[in-house]
Amino acid sequence: MGRSSYKKMSKTHRIAVLPGDGIGTEIVAEAIKVLHALKLPLQLDTAPVGGAAYELHGHPLPPATLALAKQADAVLFGAVGDWKYDKLDRPLRPEQAILGLRRELGLFANFRPAICYPQLVGASSLKPELIAGLDILIIRELTGDIYFGQPRGRRTAVDGHFPGAPEAFDTMRYSRPEVERIAHVAFQAARKRSKRVTSVDKANVLETFQFWKDIVTEVGQQYPDVELDHMYVDNAAMQLVKAPKKFDVLVTGNMFGDILSDEAAMLTGSIGMLPSASLNASNQGLYEPSHGSAPDIAGKGIANPLATILSAAMMLRFSLNLPEAADRIEAAVQTVLAQGLRTADIYSEGSTRVGTAQMGDAVVAALA
Ligand code: IPM
Ligand code: MG
Repeated sequence: MGRSSYKKMSKTHRIAVLPGDGIGTEIVAEAIKVLHALKLPLQLDTAPVGGAAYELHGHPLPPATLALAKQADAVLFGAVGDWKYDKLDRPLRPEQAILGLRRELGLFANFRPAICYPQLVGASSLKPELIAGLDILIIRELTGDIYFGQPRGRRTAVDGHFPGAPEAFDTMRYSRPEVERIAHVAFQAARKRSKRVTSVDKANVLETFQFWKDIVTEVGQQYPDVELDHMYVDNAAMQLVKAPKKFDVLVTGNMFGDILSDEAAMLTGSIGMLPSASLNASNQGLYEPSHGSAPDIAGKGIANPLATILSAAMMLRFSLNLPEAADRIEAAVQTVLAQGLRTADIYSEGSTRVGTAQMGDAVVAALA
């Protein structure tokens, strides 16, 4: 495990750095460059996770990695996954690392902002007038729903595999406290924004989501200043591409949130720009780009590090209470975009194409 520390008079914040697979190592390296440049009292400890950890220790979330994450004030996470692990038993696949971290750290509240940067309006597949000024916050419940239902499996296993199994199943469930706490998170977030929450469900078909809707409505009575409406998930998927700016805070379950947050991310032009935060009840958090490990471009030095750099900014703001430092990073990202610097995913005619490391260097230079 690598280590680098900064000593100052103030509290040293402990950050577990888990770069993971694919482009994870490249983009996390750039975020670390930016954190170093801020000269904050941070102690960074790095550990393997995902496929990288499976190669080294035979498990995607080795006990030492989990322990490091648990004792840290925050986790800076890259990405996990590679097609080459698709044949592994499910508990050994790289994705289990992120699911395990969410479960073990109790990271139930996932914040996925979808913001359209003015300089990137042209990068969206939607018409500029539909997305200029877009600023949506998707709040995804992250430790319940069908992702963590019991039981799950396929009937009639043979030697741990399921050739010709007649059926497979996962169960969708939510408990009252799980829905109540995420609803509170959404209403409180809305109070700091435009005081509107859209709760997304499938109450017309699923009992779990009638329950969700009833509880969100109940909790909403404690926030009379916040306007609440409800939308079925299929309609929400449609409205997101039809009139995305009608949304402000959108709150939903784990599965629907997974899907809608990718959709919302792409409205902004590139998923390579979007950070995310996953918080538990004590504001300990895991911060990661909204995109995945992109094995197809790994090792080429062309991935966009801005989502990870912006995730580090969210980390400073939410878990370490260093809002000025977060502001500085976000302003520096705006500056490099205004300078016309673009990685391949956001490149357009007339801008300057840069690689991963050049983009990181430019953000560091813009901090000054
Ligand atoms: C995400 C990812 C994960 C999820 C995978 C990698 C398990 O798609 O964070 O959105 O489905 O939650
Ligand atoms: Mg996803």
